[in-house]
Amino acid sequence: MRANLIIGAYAIAALLAACSGNEKPATEVAAKEIASGEIWPDDRGEHINAHGGGVMAYEGTYYWYGEHKADTTSSAYVGVTCYSSSNLTDWKYEGVALSVVDEPGHDIERGCVLERPKVIYCPTTKKFVMWFHLELKGQGYAQARYGVAVSDTPTGPFTFLRSGRVNPGLYPLGMTEKDVAAVEAIPAKSVEKWWTPMWYDAIDRGLFVVRDAKAHSDGHHDLPAGQMARDQTVYVDTDGRAYHIFASEDNLTLHIAELTPDFTAHTGRYVRVAPAGHNEAPALFRRGNTYWMITSGCTGWAPNEARMFSAPSIWGPWTQHPNPCRGPKAELTFMGQSTYILPVEGKEDAFIFMADIWRPRHPSDARYIWLPITFENDVPVVEWRDSWTLDFFE
Ligand code: GAL
Repeated sequence: MRANLIIGAYAIAALLAACSGNEKPATEVAAKEIASGEIWPDDRGEHINAHGGGVMAYEGTYYWYGEHKADTTSSAYVGVTCYSSSNLTDWKYEGVALSVVDEPGHDIERGCVLERPKVIYCPTTKKFVMWFHLELKGQGYAQARYGVAVSDTPTGPFTFLRSGRVNPGLYPLGMTEKDVAAVEAIPAKSVEKWWTPMWYDAIDRGLFVVRDAKAHSDGHHDLPAGQMARDQTVYVDTDGRAYHIFASEDNLTLHIAELTPDFTAHTGRYVRVAPAGHNEAPALFRRGNTYWMITSGCTGWAPNEARMFSAPSIWGPWTQHPNPCRGPKAELTFMGQSTYILPVEGKEDAFIFMADIWRPRHPSDARYIWLPITFENDVPVVEWRDSWTLDFFE
């Protein structure tokens, strides 16, 4: 409840300033506190329900999209919610941007798993494009699909386009037909057991990429051709090209896949990052000519130690760095898991690390971590702060 009290105190201060005659213009009212891990009330006084989310800036307004979580289940019974703000601390509930549907068998049928939605604006088509991780209702996490939806307005309603696996029948940049044939020739028996040196080598060479390029069955479910796509984000580069970054290959390897100019499909060009590194929850930003990516390990809803990578190009090579987190529970990402890195509009080198503190037994009570990123010798650092304000970036 501290966030409430703090925000209350600032509201009173603003009111007093307004009554004193020599009031500051509204824009100069002291910035409000951001208190990670606390309840974060929206304009209705309700805890913001936009988990695993991301924030898009459009025409002076920030839009926060995330998973609506119910009180007792993590499955999607509502869809993707949207909130708007001009200052990143006061959020107005804008409603459900993408709704699940009641038609039985529909890809986004109520009760499906719809996670980590992110929205980007496409200036060419003037459409807002939402990407998310989708699991069909009743199939656990077997389908590992992306979902994509579009809207003419930031707040929606978004229209669902399709779901699927990524880049069916296509191989990553640099993987030749000969490489594919060599992987196909690996005896199944020799790689049955995970985490052996032989298995690592096979994964590195693309064992699961080759497996997933074609449609197949896992013994329980029919799986479409294409690369698996679970935890995900999207990123628009300074040259206007957009990329889909997701946990693939049974969550062993991240893929970075280029999107078409309208941002609604994959071009077929993709790279793999850290094969068998077991990274998920990717969050990406660019500072100068360096791309940075913060990820987590794969321990479900339980927190683990964040990882960080950098590259001189989105295509790599990606180099791993130590955990960027500092402070209490830094070795568990402050009990959270990365979801997005938000560049503050109009400020140079101002980035906010966004993460989720999951509450699997009471999903709607999951909390948010928002912390400023600092740089030490040009390397990002995420230090815990009980609370801070956007003045940090002044
Ligand atoms: C996490 C993932 C979440 C959700 C969860 C389900 O690893 O980051 O988005 O999928 O697993 O257990």
